[in-house]
Amino acid sequence: MRNILSSIIKVGLAFAIASLANAPVNANEVKLGAKVYGGTCVACHGENGKGEIPGVPDLTSAKGPLAKTDAVLLDHIVNGYESPGSDMAMPELGGNEDLTEQDIKNVIAYMRAKYQRKK
Ligand code: HEC
Repeated sequence: MRNILSSIIKVGLAFAIASLANAPVNANEVKLGAKVYGGTCVACHGENGKGEIPGVPDLTSAKGPLAKTDAVLLDHIVNGYESPGSDMAMPELGGNEDLTEQDIKNVIAYMRAKYQRKK
């Protein structure tokens, strides 16, 4: 019984610590994500997120790509993505094979912070 109780307390503490840590980690993700965006994504998506070339979606549109969940965006950025009837596909990892999954999580946080509109 004691062991079970102490495991429950440990798990509870781990969650409490994780949620406290959340805000600073996010700020860091946004900062690191800015470098990923500026180094790779900006070529097509543009400094203002509206897209530099035809076929690139407007990240600032409320009904645009950022309305999708993190999991879907992660998949589409890592594996590449082409919507039906699209002029051009999103290349895997934006064409930069040096990017890690963490880099992509960071750039998603950055795009949400910088470009996402609620309406
Ligand atoms: C060579 C140009 C190019 C580069 C570089 C590029 N993208 Fe894209 N991206 C596209 C195009 C084109 C689409 C639209 C694809 C479609 O809808 O068929 C797209 C779509 C997306 C979408 C929307 C996906 C969806 O589910 O609707 C996201 C998010 C995205 N890109 C993020 C990124 C990120 C992050 C990077 C940098 C790591 C990046 N892109 C680099 C061209 C590019």
